[in-house]
Amino acid sequence: MSPNAHHIRNIVKLLESARYRHDMYRLFSDCMEAMAILFANAVDLRQRDAREARYLEIVRHYERDVIETFPKILAEVTLAMEAAPGDVLGAVFGQLELHNTARGQFFTPYEVCRLMARMQIGDGAHLREIVERNGFAMAQEPACGAGAMVIALAQEMQDAGVNYQQHLHVTAIDVDPRAVHMAYVQFSLMHIPAVVIVGNSLTLEEREHWYTPAHVLGGWNMRLARRGAEDACRAIEVRPASPEPVATPAPAPILPSPAKAAQLTLF
Ligand SMILES: C[S@@+](CC[C@H](N)C(=O)[O-])C[C@H]1O[C@@H](n2cnc3c(N)ncnc32)[C@H](O)[C@@H]1O
Repeated sequence: MSPNAHHIRNIVKLLESARYRHDMYRLFSDCMEAMAILFANAVDLRQRDAREARYLEIVRHYERDVIETFPKILAEVTLAMEAAPGDVLGAVFGQLELHNTARGQFFTPYEVCRLMARMQIGDGAHLREIVERNGFAMAQEPACGAGAMVIALAQEMQDAGVNYQQHLHVTAIDVDPRAVHMAYVQFSLMHIPAVVIVGNSLTLEEREHWYTPAHVLGGWNMRLARRGAEDACRAIEVRPASPEPVATPAPAPILPSPAKAAQLTLF
């Protein structure tokens, strides 16, 4: 049994405690959005007021005892990700049988995601070469669901000795805002630098941008812009305007955490 199974069961129980008063699909969606707003509003000040208003609109719909389950659910998600990083919310979505309500929105089993990421990374030599050359690797997920493929990629990078929190940037898109909120919460907890977009990968329409705390705190807008400028300069065979070459930091090693640390290893 997975080490996070107990926490996943607790999340399901907490949500089911309101099943007889509220439509589960809406309750789950609202809970995901409220949790996403909590992370976003700590770092994304430009969108803060609109999101705060949306949060108040969500909580107005529920009784006090139902609202009180939201932080408990977030605590269980955190503990589950700490016990074994994975697609915790995708598993909850499946156990609540919401994929049927969502017209067959199935997520890839996490073990399959890990296998695919492992095949992609191999022994990690090419990844390390990219990171040494460019400072970071970029990943695109055009239909992210709850983010299982990205979480697996981050874990495989970690296993290959590359710190994804500093050397990976993710752009993830889903047409369904509920999926975006789930992915955003999980990426935020794992401190993955990412922008998660509500949009359509086929028509290239983009409606909402959710920047993870790792993206904002890591200054990724600047890092990505600088990389874009360097690529453009390379493409027209001129040197970057900056008088000093920008030093590319060596990949930071992931240090083993102390055996009995009081601090969660996620943070
Ligand atoms: C089968 S799920 C897979 C999710 C995830 N990649 C995984 O492996 O668990 C497909 C996802 O694609 C999203 N999707 C479908 N059409 C899309 C489109 N045109 N643009 C962006 N996302 C889309 C759905 O909302 C759904 O979350």
